[in-house]
Amino acid sequence: MGSGLILGIETSCDETAAAVVERGARTLSSVVASQIALHARYGGVVPELASREHLRAIVPVVRNALAQANVTLADLDAIAVTSGPGLAGALLVGVTYAKALAFAQKLPLIAVNHIEGHIHAVLLHERSCAAGGRKSCAESLPDGRRTASETEMESSALALVVSGGHTHLFLAEARENAWNYTLVGRTLDDAAGEAFDKVSKLLGFPYPGGPWIDALARFGDPTAVPFKFAVIKQKLHLVGKTPRTKGARTSPIAELDPHFLFSFSGIKTAVLRYVELHNLRTDAVARAAAMGGGARPPRSQEEALALCSQQVLDLVASFQCAVVGDLMKKSFAAAEALGAKRILITGGVAANSELRQRFATEAAGRGARVSFPTLALSTDNAAMIAAAAWPRFLSGTFADDSLSADPSLALGR
Ligand code: KG4
Ligand code: ZN
Repeated sequence: MGSGLILGIETSCDETAAAVVERGARTLSSVVASQIALHARYGGVVPELASREHLRAIVPVVRNALAQANVTLADLDAIAVTSGPGLAGALLVGVTYAKALAFAQKLPLIAVNHIEGHIHAVLLHERSCAAGGRKSCAESLPDGRRTASETEMESSALALVVSGGHTHLFLAEARENAWNYTLVGRTLDDAAGEAFDKVSKLLGFPYPGGPWIDALARFGDPTAVPFKFAVIKQKLHLVGKTPRTKGARTSPIAELDPHFLFSFSGIKTAVLRYVELHNLRTDAVARAAAMGGGARPPRSQEEALALCSQQVLDLVASFQCAVVGDLMKKSFAAAEALGAKRILITGGVAANSELRQRFATEAAGRGARVSFPTLALSTDNAAMIAAAAWPRFLSGTFADDSLSADPSLALGR
């Protein structure tokens, strides 16, 4: 083995990303070319456009990652790529490029599950904190009682992966050079990030909606609209069926404890009803979003705030408070049931400020620990893919020529 340099490549959705990470712990570079501006005008990711943009961006993004890390292809020890889950055409760009590069350079190729990548974003952050103690490390060690290296020695954690495509709870267990994952819970319909995006779109904010809702919720009353999440009952007609959601293929729903199942389509409809009932479509934001007569969606959070009525701000705050509350309730219940003293929270929604603050406070009260990646590592990136590949590199688990994109690749048993 050389110096343990892995080039990670990620193209599962709307970011083309490449990163060079040393021994799964030290990020030498992490380049992310976001397609947000391209998709924003359609209110969501358009798969065909995403593939075309990945094709355009992949070569310069990989070159930049190598240049910023100050390494050449000859210095690398392996290439890691996201093989699923995600958009088929988007994944294929990364997989095909990584295969060609690995073949040309005679390097081992490592296939990484995107969801596992998100989990490793937290571990990567902790390892780099342990090595260097950066300022942002305080985020993942709120109580300061333990060092990151001690934390890493703990063998099991409950992982909440919460993004635009996923809301999954896993029990993650470290065993020698491998991590094992057991699916504990998941959403039956929309992902939490999807709910943020849909509610935001309904109110006229640009895509992706999470950051807009997060910023505006601070100015609203979270108790104004009492959104409720129904208790999910065991659905006998679902026995043996996998969920009808996008994202990963997983265990049949009926095998999961209903207390750890999520459902976000109801709150989305409740917000829609509230908007209709209170005529909030005539609110300035909605009018601006209608695009006609020179109106346009807000360009900055200050502009959005100026356009929002107090009633819209209260609605946004109540929605976010309810979603975060539901994520918290089920995550802590699962951690308790499984005896996990540690919770890892990752994925785009882990960037949410209310979520971070409330999880940290609740964990402190329960004597549990909660860890987040940095904000940059919360959303899609390739450093997490290179980090997740490191245990596979050590155990020699490499992909062969038959590797292809698997849009519904599952993680865990
Ligand atoms: O992990 P990610 O970049 O891509 C997926 O794998 O989906 O997550 C993107 C999602 C979007 O739904 C976006 O609205 C949400 O993460 N998001 C947020 C915040 N920042 C991004 N949701 C709530 N609050 C935020 N601050
Ligand atoms: Zn993601």
